[in-house]
Amino acid sequence: MSDFLYPPRASTFAGEVDALMNYINYLSIFFWVLITGLILYFAWRYRNGNKEVGPSHNTALEITWTVIPTILVISIFVWGFKTYMTLSRAPGDAMDVYVTGQKWSWSFEYPEHGVRTTNELVVPVNQPVRLVMQSSDVIHSMWLPAFRNKMDVLPGRTTTVWFEATEEGTFRFYCTEYCGDAHWNMKGDVKVVSAEAFHEWIEEKSKEDTTTPLPELGAKLFQSKACFTCHTTDGTPSIGPTLKGVFGRTVELADGKTVEADEDYLRESILQPGAKIVKGFAPTMPSFQGQLSERELNGLIEYIKSLK
Ligand code: CUA
Repeated sequence: MSDFLYPPRASTFAGEVDALMNYINYLSIFFWVLITGLILYFAWRYRNGNKEVGPSHNTALEITWTVIPTILVISIFVWGFKTYMTLSRAPGDAMDVYVTGQKWSWSFEYPEHGVRTTNELVVPVNQPVRLVMQSSDVIHSMWLPAFRNKMDVLPGRTTTVWFEATEEGTFRFYCTEYCGDAHWNMKGDVKVVSAEAFHEWIEEKSKEDTTTPLPELGAKLFQSKACFTCHTTDGTPSIGPTLKGVFGRTVELADGKTVEADEDYLRESILQPGAKIVKGFAPTMPSFQGQLSERELNGLIEYIKSLK
């Protein structure tokens, strides 16, 4: 029954969380059956017309049904508190990863390696990892079901969540705080890999890409930075305007002005999206200032130019 109820168990404390959950579930089922059964039985036994007189005061019975549930409820509290403390406090040797939630993607930064990713968290197996999280706009929430941990991500405040993955593989994480139009799509993969594979990945990631042709680099970034969450490339408007054929076109802005969509406009719209809002759209795009190298920025612009 337990594995039918739960997602994969892939962290050191997942087993403990599930055991506690089972304890509460089975206790609840037991008492639900017992109490409902007795209610039905007594309703039938002392039904209208039955002359039998029911039991009156019974001290032993009353003490029993007070003491036993009290002990059970205290046991849930003690176990729950112990588990909560385990989930809250990361071990001292945890590897920190900085996390920023924004509408509508997650970015991860590995402070010791200068590596940054979007919607993709790669961690070594059997290594405690602490996520140091903040939001650049509204309240989000980081949920890692396979690791049985979850924490709100708030603007103006840092929260943390930690786990130690026990299994290699790909697991999901989700935003579980409703945060607007594309909340449903604010999710990604946690890839748990061996220590060697992790170092190779870091090495690979920290090399700046100088060989991929610009439009191709832009197409990759369009995926990896999750631009597609809000912008289509096929002409249909989404949360943001479509990017198909935008280059060279005259764009109508929300304030009634118009602007020609040249390289400078595209660059500004990526770095300061609030500067010129396209008519009919809300100013919801986050800034990508500091998240893209010059070459990456040029790549994105070239990619957008190629969407005819
Ligand atoms: Cu972020 Cu929902």
